[in-house]
Amino acid sequence: MTHEVFSLLNYIGHKSKILDQILSHFPKTIDGIMYDLFSGSCVVGLSIDHKDVTFVDNNAHLQNLYSHLQDDKFLSTLEAMIVKYNMTNSSKKSRSEYLKDPNIGTCVWHGKVVPNMHLDQLNIVGYSSLMLDYNAGNLKGISKACAYMILTLYGRNSNVSVKKDGNLTGGIGPLDFSIRAKKKLKNHQEIMKNRNLHFVTGTYKDVEPIAEDFVYMDPPYLASGFKYCGWTEEDEKGLLAWIDDLPCQWALSNVFISGNTKNKILFDWAQSKNVIYIKKKYRKWSTKGKSTAKKQNKKNEEVLILPK
Ligand SMILES: C[S@@+](CC[C@H](N)C(=O)[O-])C[C@H]1O[C@@H](n2cnc3c(N)ncnc32)[C@H](O)[C@@H]1O
Repeated sequence: MTHEVFSLLNYIGHKSKILDQILSHFPKTIDGIMYDLFSGSCVVGLSIDHKDVTFVDNNAHLQNLYSHLQDDKFLSTLEAMIVKYNMTNSSKKSRSEYLKDPNIGTCVWHGKVVPNMHLDQLNIVGYSSLMLDYNAGNLKGISKACAYMILTLYGRNSNVSVKKDGNLTGGIGPLDFSIRAKKKLKNHQEIMKNRNLHFVTGTYKDVEPIAEDFVYMDPPYLASGFKYCGWTEEDEKGLLAWIDDLPCQWALSNVFISGNTKNKILFDWAQSKNVIYIKKKYRKWSTKGKSTAKKQNKKNEEVLILPK
């Protein structure tokens, strides 16, 4: 049995859209701990109906957010922070009301200057000030967790990036804490109830699974251009050697080919494994005309690798 979980954040590389294709290959029962390694938005580990899950990721900001999500005061702290930084909250007041604000600004649409249909101009000052406070270390614990969620939801592409020095960086986006975002938060809090969930800031070397456990891994993809804070051939080889020594069942998500780049290290290693090819899901609107052909020509071979 699985829970229906939608990614809380629009996290790069999240597996929400292909969960069914991944979870159908997981063991029916797990006697020990389920490890979700390189857990990102945690959707995989949260979706399975198993009590004991350990999430490991080296993004300390994310791990802090997820470890505070179940706090009864999370929603009230988040909404109070939105008020404090004078930002919009369309889960409470409708977008159309906000759009009447004279400070909404203008934008150019088909060569014409029209009123802005986004909330960015109303939030830009508060967003910058929250980012400064966050990076100055002025926010701790649950406040830091709420601030990270706000910086992500209100950020460009609903995202915020981590720099090499660990600080956050990113610009303002068009959205805010919407009715949908509030629903997703409540959905997460519901499925996290009465479970033993642990959030470790670290990497795969920090855990020692035993025979009864199950390990799912979703590392950065060597073949893809986006490597989070860095992922090298040495990291890849180290992980694959570690997997070969695992005493338990496991599954690894990855891509063999992305664009023109093939991950030969992974491909060669996987020859002795069971490889499941993931079917790409296209949005309905893109199934017409040229755009589909273009998209389908772009090679992206996504796989789930399991032991033989
Ligand atoms: C492909 S994403 C995982 C996505 C996740 N499965 C989801 O559904 O949201 C890869 C994750 O690996 C993390 N990461 C990158 N390098 C790492 C490392 N050396 N050790 C641990 N985590 C790492 C990143 O922070 C990122 O969250």
